[in-house]
Amino acid sequence: MNLKDLYIDYFISLGHKQIPSAPVVPENDPSVLFNTAGMQPLIPYLMGQPHPYGTRLCDYQKCIRTNDLDEVGDTTHHTFFEMLGNWSLGDYFKDESITWSFNFLTKVLNIPKEKLAVTVFAGNDDIPFDKVSFDKWVSLGISEDRIAKTVEDNFWIAGESGPCGADTEIFYFRSNDDIPKVFDPDDDRWVEIWNNVFMEYLKKDGKVSILPKKNVDTGMGVERTTAILEGVNDNYLSSIWKDVIELISQISGIKYEDNPKSMRIIADHIRTAVFISSDYAGIKPSNTDQGYILRRLIRRAIRHAFKLNIDINSDWEKQIASLIINKYKKYYKELSDNELVVYEVLKNEKEKFNKTLEKGIKEFEKIVNSLNGNIINKDLAFKLYDTYGFPIELTEELASEKSLSVDTIGFKEKFREHQEKSRTASQGKFKGGLAGNSEIETKYHTATHLLNAALKQVVGFDVHQKGSNITDERMRFDFSCDHKLSDDEKAKVEQLVNKWINDSIDVKCTEMKKDEAIKSGAECMFIEKYPDIVTVYSIGDISKELCGGPHVKNTSEIGKFKIIKEEASSAGVRRIKAIIE
Ligand code: ALA
Repeated sequence: MNLKDLYIDYFISLGHKQIPSAPVVPENDPSVLFNTAGMQPLIPYLMGQPHPYGTRLCDYQKCIRTNDLDEVGDTTHHTFFEMLGNWSLGDYFKDESITWSFNFLTKVLNIPKEKLAVTVFAGNDDIPFDKVSFDKWVSLGISEDRIAKTVEDNFWIAGESGPCGADTEIFYFRSNDDIPKVFDPDDDRWVEIWNNVFMEYLKKDGKVSILPKKNVDTGMGVERTTAILEGVNDNYLSSIWKDVIELISQISGIKYEDNPKSMRIIADHIRTAVFISSDYAGIKPSNTDQGYILRRLIRRAIRHAFKLNIDINSDWEKQIASLIINKYKKYYKELSDNELVVYEVLKNEKEKFNKTLEKGIKEFEKIVNSLNGNIINKDLAFKLYDTYGFPIELTEELASEKSLSVDTIGFKEKFREHQEKSRTASQGKFKGGLAGNSEIETKYHTATHLLNAALKQVVGFDVHQKGSNITDERMRFDFSCDHKLSDDEKAKVEQLVNKWINDSIDVKCTEMKKDEAIKSGAECMFIEKYPDIVTVYSIGDISKELCGGPHVKNTSEIGKFKIIKEEASSAGVRRIKAIIE
């Protein structure tokens, strides 16, 4: 039996109900592109809502983390991974949770307890030292030398706000060296395999309050733990990847040792592309948001296939996808349901990119040979993007392989100029979710910033944008807020926006470094989506936001603003629909 089955069986035997993996795109949290942890789909239940399956749950959840996308290629990074989790929603707490984790590791997986070490929360001004967990580990036979106490690493929260609490992390000694008597969590021979979070607090607006119930949230990464159990020091040599790597090796006629990096990138990126495109969320390659990630993954995989001399016009990507689908379809029904969709998405994107890839690579070589200095200028980077479909990140990767860099700042300027000129809706990559630009949509964009600012003044400074969608008929705005707006609040928001419109305030656009923009208090939604140099739109001293625009030059251009609906969007998120008359 594999790790996933062992885990689920074990927790079912302890009264847990298995819940299905949620889609890769979070349904309750528009502030992230993908689910990054098993608990994300469970946030409303951790906050107190009763779960239809009861108070003991377990699952394996599809997770995607894109922050380290460019790191993929080494032995440990993946963009997609599965997280095993078990939850108590106001049911059991530290005692059972720690005992069961320990028993699963030592009795089911047969890991000797001498190879384990743990960390526990050391205590700070607000929350005391977690003596209960410490004592529990000692009672189970973990020596005190192997229990490290930390503050920062032993408090877990997904992002900035939400359910949270002290945690205890379990580490495994992944080395053939003698195991040191005293555990040092910074010694990288110790790798974290499981995290048990005792969620009893809610963090909101920087303040911590007590949740209605004490919960447990745990997470164990399947890829890492499988590699550990199988005793390999390269995750891509574990049973999860071995056959995929072998297939890539067979298709390319190249041994894994001869180019492990390209093979890992192809294996990882095609697997993630399979999971994104098979998901019921229905994502397709595009130039924005999740679709842009999908496009980047497929194009980067294609480029590495090209590097391995794979005939890119053959059905190599389908062969790899098919192997992956067959490996996982027992666990994820969507893979069988959407098998043909996956093949089609991959093939279409491949055909689009193949037309220009080879010529683009030649162009790139030409650029390199005639380069004066070591920077690829904005015009060349833009040509690679516009004519050859090279995502800027791909050009950067090609450049770094030749120890060159790319003028991405200039590229972005050029990108924007082009965008403004062509005024097409299809190039919204830097627009942070505002992907249209007709005259009326431009007015809605600026009205969106005013609405965001008005909500802060009327409802509270902790209101943050959680999503936005604009058509030429209306704007929709999602924001964090824990209550239904009263009629009075709605009227005040509307009046304030209209006042600012009547005040004829200039809208100014400046460029700054991303860090500086954030430091200066500019608002933004998906921080990781923005390039290092960003545009910041300011409306007098009313609003300041990172945004790719476009915006009106003066608020007087907007017209009359009217809220037509205010409703719940998801837990802790409200939605306003508004029009301009
Ligand atoms: N939510 C916890 C984590 O992702 C378990 O580490």
